[in-house]
Amino acid sequence: MMQLTVIPGDGIGQEIMTQVLRVLKHVNAPFEYEEHAAGESALITHQSLLPQTTVDSINKTKLAIKGPTTTPVGGGHKSINVTMRQKFDLYANVRPVRSLPGVQCVCSDVNLTIVRENTEDLYAGIERMVDDDTAESIKRITRKGSERIARYAYELAQKTGRSQVAIVHKANIMKMSDGLFLKVAQEVGAKYPNIATRDVIVDNACMQLVTRPQQFDVIVTENLYGDILSDLCAGLVGGLGVVPGANIGEKAAIFEAVHGSAPDIAGQNKANPTALLQSAVMMLQHVNEQTKADAIMKALIAALSDVNARTGDLGGKGTTVSFTDAIIQKLG
Ligand code: NAI
Ligand code: MG
Repeated sequence: MMQLTVIPGDGIGQEIMTQVLRVLKHVNAPFEYEEHAAGESALITHQSLLPQTTVDSINKTKLAIKGPTTTPVGGGHKSINVTMRQKFDLYANVRPVRSLPGVQCVCSDVNLTIVRENTEDLYAGIERMVDDDTAESIKRITRKGSERIARYAYELAQKTGRSQVAIVHKANIMKMSDGLFLKVAQEVGAKYPNIATRDVIVDNACMQLVTRPQQFDVIVTENLYGDILSDLCAGLVGGLGVVPGANIGEKAAIFEAVHGSAPDIAGQNKANPTALLQSAVMMLQHVNEQTKADAIMKALIAALSDVNARTGDLGGKGTTVSFTDAIIQKLG
């Protein structure tokens, strides 16, 4: 059994987490659950958005599933996700993007995963005012940072049975920084002879993703390009409400939905657990429980295909609980 830190979060967090845990228990996922607080609710109970007890738990289990958390407006609170990324050196931001039945979207048959480097690039915060009228931001790319994200992408491709990794860059212009990223990623790719490598310049990647996204399998890219491409791809398959995400490092891996805490529908049994359930699927893949991951994904797709089962946000007649009942029924 593996220990798992469960962070229900705020708003609809508790409702969807309860249902996701029901599904995990139904497939006998090998977890011992340890529930901890984060977000606005934790601010009330623990006087902190991210209590030390929660951090200690993740340090111990190295594995967490997190519901959405409300970041209070004002008071200068630092985002929980930024804090966790720094505390646990979560260098890989992973977002699977796939077309789902019953979800309105601009194209079908998309099934790709974006692996975004999460610690370097223009996000390193190395900025200065040269004088009153000139500002500079430094784009920092290292061999170490590029190597570990590329390795993560190829390992993920191998583990999940994918056949191609696309390295997205702008090395034709930023010959040194993006050049280093591309070169290192290609060196890593050479160690995976069963996986095809291609490289795509980021602006062309945007055009290709909109016109023919089906050609992509795994995409590995730098922080800024990854930020933009992740949301572009979420848009392709129906928006941020249905896509899962994970932040992964050597010290911990944290899986979550990308959507927020939806205070407008909290406590009404209306929330769609699809995104968080897909995060649980990613988590099962992460711990090498591919069979259980595939079974849940198949049941989820079957339930989504049924208008009587799926939730109201997707035009269905189901509730949070009844939709989960349908998934569990499909699992047998
Ligand atoms: P939101 O994603 O919570 O809501 C936007 C709209 O989508 C709302 O109409 C909501 O009802 C709907 N929605 C979201 N998730 C849904 C689900 N699972 N099922 C059905 N409908 C769903 O975004 P909003 O309103 O901008 O933010 C609300 C709060 O969430 C804020 O406090 C924000 O800070 C927080 N937030 C947290 C995130 C996280 O923890 N990862 C990410 C984004 C926002
Ligand atoms: Mg973003």
